[in-house]
Amino acid sequence: MLAAYAARIDANDPLSALEVGERPDPTPPSGWTTVSVRAAGLNHHDVWSLKGVGLPADRLPMILGCDGAGVDADGNEVIIHAVVPSDGWTGDETLDPRRTLLSELHDGTLAQYVAVPTRNLVPKPAGLSWAHAACLSTAWLTAYRMLFVNAGLTPGATVLVQGAGGGVATALVQLGAAAGYRVWVTSRDEARGARAVEVGADRAFASGERLPERVDGVMETVGQATWSHSVKALKPGGVIVTCGATSGDAPPAELTRVFFLQLRVVGSTMGTRDELDRLMRFCAVTGVRPQIDRVLPLEQARDGFERMLDADLFGKVVFTRP
Ligand SMILES: NC(=O)c1ccc[n+]([C@@H]2O[C@H](COP(=O)([O-])OP(=O)(O)OC[C@H]3O[C@@H](n4cnc5c(N)ncnc54)[C@H](OP(=O)(O)O)[C@@H]3O)[C@@H](O)[C@H]2O)c1
Repeated sequence: MLAAYAARIDANDPLSALEVGERPDPTPPSGWTTVSVRAAGLNHHDVWSLKGVGLPADRLPMILGCDGAGVDADGNEVIIHAVVPSDGWTGDETLDPRRTLLSELHDGTLAQYVAVPTRNLVPKPAGLSWAHAACLSTAWLTAYRMLFVNAGLTPGATVLVQGAGGGVATALVQLGAAAGYRVWVTSRDEARGARAVEVGADRAFASGERLPERVDGVMETVGQATWSHSVKALKPGGVIVTCGATSGDAPPAELTRVFFLQLRVVGSTMGTRDELDRLMRFCAVTGVRPQIDRVLPLEQARDGFERMLDADLFGKVVFTRP
């Protein structure tokens, strides 16, 4: 079958570690099933994998991809939940210290077929296209948990999203706006900020710009480049929810402000299978659909990865099966 996979690790030139070519069809172990993939979403996680973050060289070659939607062995249309808990784990899968994501220990979704635990399949609503369904299980699920599970904010609150164009950032804007939050964004690029306003943000600001008032919560995916601004943007008692550090992991911690203003800093990773189910219902009820930057055939996976690294990206890159 055709697949996009990490053949090597290269921390400096991740795309040189990517191959798009033939891999053996999966053979699912007991309790797993094979899904015929119709569409698969790309995430920054796939770039981290090519750099060797979370993917040691002894697991290569590894088919990339966490997001996917397709048809299971019984002909059901399904969305794949990417979090694979360890054997015997019960409860919130994201709290399992030995959990993995598809493409970390087991081959991922950027392929014609993928093997997944049967319990990781969630029925796809008929009204959701394959491309939209393929965006939900990673960036969108992460945004859902950040906003609705971990932030502890109620509708009407003002939420700042750092960065406008990434998959998680666009999901935060669209979900937050649909749920009645006042969403502000920052961007390094005025045009991307304007596009964020088009998909639901109330206002856009330049990265690091002083805001007209302090906010109730900040959603962080950028890390080092925006952290100080995030801390300074908060009202006393406000919350930062962080799920990523694209620009680096060594910001000044701003501890004095954190303790003096009694700020909360909350980590957030992916979401549970039940939260994915609720996210799909949220999309069905509100009519919200993931912002897609472009859809490409899987054969052109390299172009999609290049787009992911392009600063102009706005929304998700999705691959469709050959
Ligand atoms: N913990 C989890 O479960 C989880 C799940 C999903 C993603 N993540 C992480 O969250 C991060 C975001 O992922 P993503 O898929 O949404 O894509 P991404 O490509 O990393 O998103 C790029 C975003 O970062 C912003 N940005 C601002 N300053 C930047 C800088 N100096 N360098 C680079 N980017 C900057 C960009 O905004 P402007 O260019 O508009 O300023 C853009 O919105 C990644 O680090 C990813 O690994 C974590």
